[in-house]
Amino acid sequence: MDYRRTYVRDLFNLAPGTEASAYGWVKTRRDSKGISFIQLSDGSCFKDLQVIVNDGVIAPDTLKQITTGACVRFDGKIVESPAAGQAVEFEAAGVELYGAADPAIYPLQKKGASFEYLRDIAHLRVRGNTFGAVYRIRNRAAFATHSFFQKRGFHYINTPIITASDAEGAGAMFAVSTLLEAHESKEPGKPTFHLKSADPSEDFFGKPAYLTVSGQLEAETLAMGMTNVYTFGPTFRAENSSTSRHLAEFWMIEPEMAFCDLAGDMNLAEEFLKEVIGDIIDNCGDDLAFFNQRIEPQLLETLNHVVSSPFERLTYTEAIKLLEQGGEKFEYPVSWGVDLQSEHERWLTEVKIGRPIILTDYPKEIKAFYMRANEDGKTVRAMDVLAPRIGEIIGGSQREERLDVLEARITELGLPLEPYWWYLDLRRFGSAPHAGFGLGFERLLLYVTGMKNIRDVIPYHRTPGHAEF
Ligand code: 4AD
Ligand code: MG
Repeated sequence: MDYRRTYVRDLFNLAPGTEASAYGWVKTRRDSKGISFIQLSDGSCFKDLQVIVNDGVIAPDTLKQITTGACVRFDGKIVESPAAGQAVEFEAAGVELYGAADPAIYPLQKKGASFEYLRDIAHLRVRGNTFGAVYRIRNRAAFATHSFFQKRGFHYINTPIITASDAEGAGAMFAVSTLLEAHESKEPGKPTFHLKSADPSEDFFGKPAYLTVSGQLEAETLAMGMTNVYTFGPTFRAENSSTSRHLAEFWMIEPEMAFCDLAGDMNLAEEFLKEVIGDIIDNCGDDLAFFNQRIEPQLLETLNHVVSSPFERLTYTEAIKLLEQGGEKFEYPVSWGVDLQSEHERWLTEVKIGRPIILTDYPKEIKAFYMRANEDGKTVRAMDVLAPRIGEIIGGSQREERLDVLEARITELGLPLEPYWWYLDLRRFGSAPHAGFGLGFERLLLYVTGMKNIRDVIPYHRTPGHAEF
């Protein structure tokens, strides 16, 4: 057996009469007089292969075991299909049953199972229509991301996952420590923790260390020597928020550009979203058609609209005025200085403007320490891209490149200067204007697929109370 194979998606392109083998998992089997119809999928494309098994071709004992979830290889040939909606089907001449799936206990046979239920069997849900489509789009979006940056001369770099500095200064970090030991307790299956030492200098790294919340700070160091770089990796946030848009472990794409200001940053963000979405429209047609039909009725229209129309650009101050004058009752009242809630972001993008918005120049109090201060002393050169249905999809900024201003800001926020010594060195030696942003990969996937819960666009979600699989 070799990894090289004819995928189901390739079988559809073979001329009728061609002999081939079809590998995959059975979606359904339907028997009628003298013939069985089997829908087979190997995940290579949205469409299932229809396999025809004529009476007597397969031993009845074997055929009986070819039920939903079974893994098989059919040998046979491609034939023209009399059925509507498909050009060809597969006529079996023989079968090898790799693994049966007992219908009495196979968990994935209920049609129309809820997404909540499928989350509990996330190791099997990939075999259904929805999750195959989600993961194929996820794959294509990752490929399109690399291709977007590579075409523009950005270098792909990897930043540490374990770090001693809080990149956002927000403190929502998971500690990484070997001082904590899990012990079996008297109650079986209920381990207890034991702290070997409370002294961080005795810990693995000799000081407190955490899972990173963002690769930005290290990406900045690389941009200050390689000009344009990007990261694409996992990030971690210990925020205790169980919303449909938050994960404790998510993937972030973070470009960082030397010799670039906020305007250039916004241009890159807009170009990026348009190109990646356009690529998915061009290359994942069957999967998108499914989401459009079953998940989000306006999906294709919205995506095409996003690709073809310019994003609205507003300052935070302008947005607050629109919100105040809009006559809408919000759960969280709006006034200058408040952080925008998802209801505000959605009203702006969905009701007021009707397409993605880039909001800039937020009050410094609600943004991270590294953003470049504006001359007004009140706002910083931040930009968030807000999308209908999703709210914030990208967060970015021009960075503070002036040493004295940055040091003063860190101190003003009550953060220690020491862990940032190397970050401050960038401003001490050969500083330059620079900017970048972070795009939450799963937020992008929510937007492109129309799926409603972020837990359903990543194979295995990590959220408060959940680290299964
Ligand atoms: O706005 P954030 O916090 O920005 C940063 O981390 C910057 N360091 C990025 C940079 O400038 N290089 O996060 C960026 C994006 C958000 O816009 C959102 O799409 C996503 O990351 N995000 C999350 N996605 C899923 N679950 C969470 N808990 C998320 N928190 C942020
Ligand atoms: Mg943000």
